[in-house]
Amino acid sequence: MLVKATQFLSLLKIMFVFNLLLLGCSEKKEKQKAEKKKAKTALTIIKNDDCLNCHSIEDKSVGPSYVKVAQRYESDYSTVNRLAKKIIEGGGGLWGGGQMSKHPLLKSNDARRVVRWILSLDDSVANPDPMMTIPAISLREALEANPAESENGLTLYVYSRETSADVTPQHTGVVKRIHFTGAEAFEPLSEGSRLKMEGFITINQSGKYFFKQVRTGKGKVILDGATIINENDWDRETDIDLLPRTYPITVEYRMERENSKLSLQWITPEDEYYRVIPEEVFTISLPQNQAAL
Ligand code: HEC
Repeated sequence: MLVKATQFLSLLKIMFVFNLLLLGCSEKKEKQKAEKKKAKTALTIIKNDDCLNCHSIEDKSVGPSYVKVAQRYESDYSTVNRLAKKIIEGGGGLWGGGQMSKHPLLKSNDARRVVRWILSLDDSVANPDPMMTIPAISLREALEANPAESENGLTLYVYSRETSADVTPQHTGVVKRIHFTGAEAFEPLSEGSRLKMEGFITINQSGKYFFKQVRTGKGKVILDGATIINENDWDRETDIDLLPRTYPITVEYRMERENSKLSLQWITPEDEYYRVIPEEVFTISLPQNQAAL
């Protein structure tokens, strides 16, 4: 009887351990699957290949921007095979000079996936434009907020017209996100006003980030002391590898007369399309746990 009981117990133990092993295995498999899936998104293929040496998503580079490619073919998915073949074989002649190098190692499936993503950039269902779909923030409200009483967002300084940077601002406030659109985007400020938004941005995941400043008028973005977007009209987008930590950020902008707009957007390693940078990553001051950095 006693023997049987211990045998039974050890059998149970064996089963238990075996189950754990099985569980561990399937968990690992699931994880691998998820990673594989993630690694296969079109944008990841682009980031891991050499495409970004010659193409940006929106800015012109050696090759046309991907948005321009999408516009040219009007999201006509019957061009997928031809474009995929061209990426693999290389070529030129369509965009006014310049040759695309060949990419013989790129699998045909992956090339087609990349082309479908490029074409989707001009598809308002797959990639709705945040300028049209995301409500603007209220500048009036921003000017009423007190930076000393806020945690999230960036401190807003407003200067009148041309003044050197050390002049005292006319107004201060807090912007939660940087997203001014529509006819009254900058009410009640007068044209020519200069805006500076300053604070910190917390990056949670390492990898490549795309930033773009959608704007009419002049502006720039300074991240961690380096100008990542400058005042040139052809240079409003950048991609940059970031590690998880908090970085100082400054966004400058000079308002133009009519229909002024300003929006700061990004694509994180988890996204496939641009979106307005959300307020939870912006802080007025350096978070406590990073103060030592
Ligand atoms: C050496 C620079 C270079 C690299 C690297 C490069 N391209 Fe290009 N690409 C170009 C140029 C230049 C053109 C314009 C060719 C033309 O005028 O027909 C172009 C055109 C294209 C087009 C439009 C083709 C057409 O017929 O309209 C697509 C799509 C494209 N590239 C995707 C990619 C992808 C995806 C990658 C990475 C796998 C890539 N390119 C890598 C330079 C490059």
